[in-house]
Parts: sequence; structure tokens; C-alpha cells
Amino acid sequence: MYKIVSIPGDGIGPEVVAGAVDVINAVAKKHGFEVLIEEHLFGGASYEVHGNMLTDETLEACRNCDAVLLGAVGGPKWESLPHAEKPEAALLKIRKELGLFANLRPAKVYEALVDASTLKSEVVGGTDFMVFRELTGGIYFGQPRGYDENRGWNTMVYERYEVERIARLAFEYARNRGNVKVTSIDKANVLEVSQFWRNVVHEVHKDFPEIELADMYVDNAAMQIVRNPKQFDVIVTSNLFGDILSDISGMITGSLGMLPSASIGSDHALYEPIHGSAPDIAGQNKANPIATIASVAMMFENSFALPEVAKEIYDAIEAALATGIRTADIAKPGEKTASTTEMTAAIVARI
Ligand code: IPM
Ligand code: MG
Repeated sequence: MYKIVSIPGDGIGPEVVAGAVDVINAVAKKHGFEVLIEEHLFGGASYEVHGNMLTDETLEACRNCDAVLLGAVGGPKWESLPHAEKPEAALLKIRKELGLFANLRPAKVYEALVDASTLKSEVVGGTDFMVFRELTGGIYFGQPRGYDENRGWNTMVYERYEVERIARLAFEYARNRGNVKVTSIDKANVLEVSQFWRNVVHEVHKDFPEIELADMYVDNAAMQIVRNPKQFDVIVTSNLFGDILSDISGMITGSLGMLPSASIGSDHALYEPIHGSAPDIAGQNKANPIATIASVAMMFENSFALPEVAKEIYDAIEAALATGIRTADIAKPGEKTASTTEMTAAIVARI
């Protein structure tokens, strides 16, 4: 039996998570798996009830399951809260508490959507790389931090073990994909912490001599990702650089509404779409559920070690898209658009 905790959160979160749950149930029925899905509050939805974005109860539930499925958090209603009470702080807390040190964000162009990107289709067509973003260290968590009237400060710091474990994961992934290239991205020409990052990545690389390792400065990487995204197979980088580069990578594929992510640690894993809560379209049955459904595919692959089930889900997404069905975010101007539930049904029908 697989025990999944779902935390739909805010905005379009509940709608896209509902779509993903339909897909989980369809897959479970097809293969005869037993799945228990337990729903918990998170983000603004939790704040309204408990005055707290992340309760101990939700955290405990996340610790005691096989995988967590997250929708999205945040919205205008909670933007003016003090820093520590904001939804973003709850997201960082859940990552840290569950030890989710690696964030995997694929940039994969769906065949049916090569012309949905703002970049030329011959540039983006065939792009397929994975970003490994370090998620529980770096400047997001470094101390000291703060600001007063005259100064603001944060600290970018990495411990050896933090760099080693994410580098190792990226190299192992590259090995499983047939010894593809790993590009480590840093700012070692300016930052000591980046020079340290680079040194440690090269030390770990000694255990993977069959894999090609390239170093790239983050400014150049931002340019290379839009210039020629096909040059990348696996990117490994720190928390802040990964945050920025994964948004750039996401846009190559046409819409952030397409992209899943997995946040994994040694004991827990959480799956969520890359996009946010999109409060402007919340509750309108307009959101694209594909990113969340693809996150379920990542769950089956990473947490349940069922890559063939993951493939069935990706294939069902491709097959649905091939019929021409489009939610508003991926439709061409004037094209007929499908709702969240219609897109979900089209995918479920193909499982
Ligand atoms: C992301 C988001 C978060 C981050 C924010 C919402 C805290 O941008 O998951 O990429 O910066 O990590
Ligand atoms: Mg981000």
C-alpha cells in the first residue's frame, strides 16, 4: 500500500491536485495497487483555520507517509504578513524539516508543444535535461541574516556534506541515464563559496570517471540555456542559482503549467508543480493540471520505484496533447480551450 499525503494549499492548488488524485486513482485501479490519500491543510488554507501556515499536525503527517503531493501556496491575502509568517517561510520550513535537500526540475519539451515556446522550435525541440537544485542550504538558510534601516545582509554558506550529497545524486542520475554529461553551475570567479562548491563537486566526480563534468558560471549558463538548451543533460547547482535557472529552463518548454518537480531527501519526498498558486484564475476550472499530474509520474518513479507506471502517465499526457486538447496557458490565440477537469479526463481516459 502507498500512503500519500496531499496538501492542496491555495489558489489553483486544490484544482490541480484534484486532477492529480484522479490520475493516481486511475493508475491504482489499472494495476491493482492500494493507495491511501490523506488530505491536510497547508499555506493560507491552514492560516485561515489555525493562524499558522504549517501546523505540527500537517508536518507529522508528511513525516509518516510514503510521499507528499503539494499543490501551491500563497496569494495576495497573505502577502503583507511579517516575513516569518508568510507562505514562503512555510515552504522553506517544510523543505528543511523533511530534509528535502535535492530539488529535481526537468526541462523536457513535449513533442506536441514545440511551437508553444517563445523560443524558436528548432532551438527548443528535443530539449531534455534535469536540474538538480540544492534545496536546504546556501543563501536561503545561511546565518547571519537580517536588515535594519541602513543595511541588509544574508550569508551564502555551504558545508562539505551538503555539496557532496547533491553532487552524488546528480552523478548517479547521470549514470542511470547512460553516463550523460553533468554541468555544475557556480560563480567561482567571484564567490569563495562557489569555489568551494566547485572543488567538492570535482572530488565527488572522482567516483564517476565515466561521466563528463563541465563547470559553468551562472551568468553564462543563463545565456546558454536560452541559446542552445540541447547542450545540457544534467545541471547541478546551489539553491539560489537553481531557483533562477529552473524558471528560465521552465519557460523553454512553453509553459510553467507543464513542469513537475520532485524534492527529495534521505527519508522523505515531496512532489509539486513548479508553478505557483495563480490566484487570478483560482476557482475557475482553467488551470493546467499537467504539471501536477507529471509530478505524480515523478512520484511513481522516485518514491515507488515504478518507472514503467511513470512512463504510462507521461505517455497519457503526450497522447492527450496529441489530440489537440489545450488549456488556456498552452493554447494558441483563438484556439478552443479546455478546462482543468476536461484536460484531466482526457489524460485519465488514456491511462
Ligand atoms: C520555488 C519558489 C520558492 C523558492 C519560493 C516561493 C520560496 O520560487 O520553489 O522555486 O524560492 O524556492
Ligand atoms: Mg522559484
